[in-house]
Order: sequence, then C-alpha cells, then structure tokens
Amino acid sequence: MSHGGRRPWLVGVSGASGTPYAAAVLRALLQAGEDVDLVVSRASRLTILDETGHPFRDAHAGEDLRRWLARGADGTPDAFDVDADLDPGRVRHWTPGDLAAGPSSGSYPVRGMLVVPASTACVAGVALGLSKDLLQRSASVTLKERRPLVVVVRETPLTGQTLRHLVTLDEAGAVVLPASPAFYAGARHIQDLVDFVAGRALDAAAVPHKLYHRWAGELGQGRDALAEMP
Ligand SMILES: Cc1cc2nc3c(=O)[nH]c(=O)nc-3n(C[C@H](O)[C@H](O)[C@H](O)COP(=O)(O)O)c2cc1C
Repeated sequence: MSHGGRRPWLVGVSGASGTPYAAAVLRALLQAGEDVDLVVSRASRLTILDETGHPFRDAHAGEDLRRWLARGADGTPDAFDVDADLDPGRVRHWTPGDLAAGPSSGSYPVRGMLVVPASTACVAGVALGLSKDLLQRSASVTLKERRPLVVVVRETPLTGQTLRHLVTLDEAGAVVLPASPAFYAGARHIQDLVDFVAGRALDAAAVPHKLYHRWAGELGQGRDALAEMP
C-alpha cells in the first residue's frame, strides 16, 4: 500500500495527568502543517474524562478529538477554533490495542514520536521494552529506528526506579522532558504554562511554533510582555 508521501509525527497520550499538554502539542503540530498519528492509551481515557469532563472513545475519535482540541486548559469549551485554524482530518487515530497498526513496524514512515504526557508506567514499559500496547511498542520502534523520541514525563516526586528508567531512555537517545513549566516567558493564564511545556517538547522535535516567548538575553522580558498585554 502506498503512503502517498505522508510522514506523520506520532503522538502517544498515556495516563498521566496533563491532557492539556497533549492537546497543545496536537494543535501546534496541525498548525505547523504536520500530519499526526495518534495513540491514546486505555488508562488515559480516565485522565481525559477526569480533566476535560468528556470521554475519548475509539468509535467516536474524530468527534471527541475535535472537542478536546477546542478546549482551553482553563476549561473554556471553545477556546480554540478547530475548524477554522486546524485540520483535524490530518490526524489518523489508532486504537491502543492494535498491535498490527502501522506504527508497530519500523517500516511505517513516521518523523518521530512525542509521548505527552508520559506516565511512569509508560516510561518503565518503554525503558524495559515491554511493548504492552501500541503506544509502548511505537515508542520502542522509534528508539530502535533512531528517530526522535520526546518523553514528556509527569509525576512528582519521582522514585529512584523511575529516575533509572529515565536515564535508560536518555541513553537510548530519547529526550526526557519533564512537564515542568517555567515562568521567565511570562504567564498570565494556565494555557501559557501549558503552552510553554508543549513548546519545549516541539523544540525538542524541531517543529516550528509560536507557543511561548523565547528568552532573548534580558532579565525581566517576561514581565515586560505581561505588562504589554491588554
Ligand atoms: C486521574 C489520574 C491521574 C493520574 N496521574 C498520573 C500522573 O500524573 N503520573 C503518572 O505517572 N501516573 C498517573 N496516573 C496513573 C496512570 O494512569 C497509571 O499508572 C496507568 O497504568 C498508566 O498507564 P499507561 O501508561 O498505559 O497510560 C494517574 C491515574 C489517574 C486515574
């Protein structure tokens, strides 16, 4: 079967808190004109339901994804105009139990993978090569193919065991990127903090975006940007 030159970014959403990070990364990839293959773990259905108040169902993935992408991190249901600004048709959804799915094989063309957010269970599974579902298998494939893998881990505090798993991922070539927002870029809303983490994840994948104000070498520029806001 021909892939028609399509070479998507793979996005894995695991069951850590932080579903707004995933939504921000997905929106920015679409805004950058990228195709996306999406895997949403079974456990993350609980965090999505908990944090957004809405389900993510395999049988209604298109509809549920649209609603999720439209939602702001502060809970505003229509903070983003999905149909005007994005093209959710560029997202191909794979069910997490489908180990015969495209991303299960290194011969399936992808640019790389972002796991956002990454649970400690997911970190362990990828570090140990468990491939217990399509998300973990895809991440292992990304590593073995030496493609970019960005792991946005979300847990605190961290056990020594998780720290060792994270070192294993780093040594295997992944970028370990804790969901750890900074304040130097200036932040007024929850979305600004979310976008900072999402933006740093996209930086690690070398995908262009305008999600946060970059440091330009002068103290106080974040406060200046805030002062200029209406
Ligand atoms: C509401 C909720 C929040 C959770 N938050 C976290 C979290 O922040 N970090 C984490 O590592 N696990 C968290 N968990 C636990 C994971 O969902 C659990 O370890 C699960 O097995 C992860 O599976 P997955 O990696 O296949 O998605 C949370 C679970 C629930 C229900």
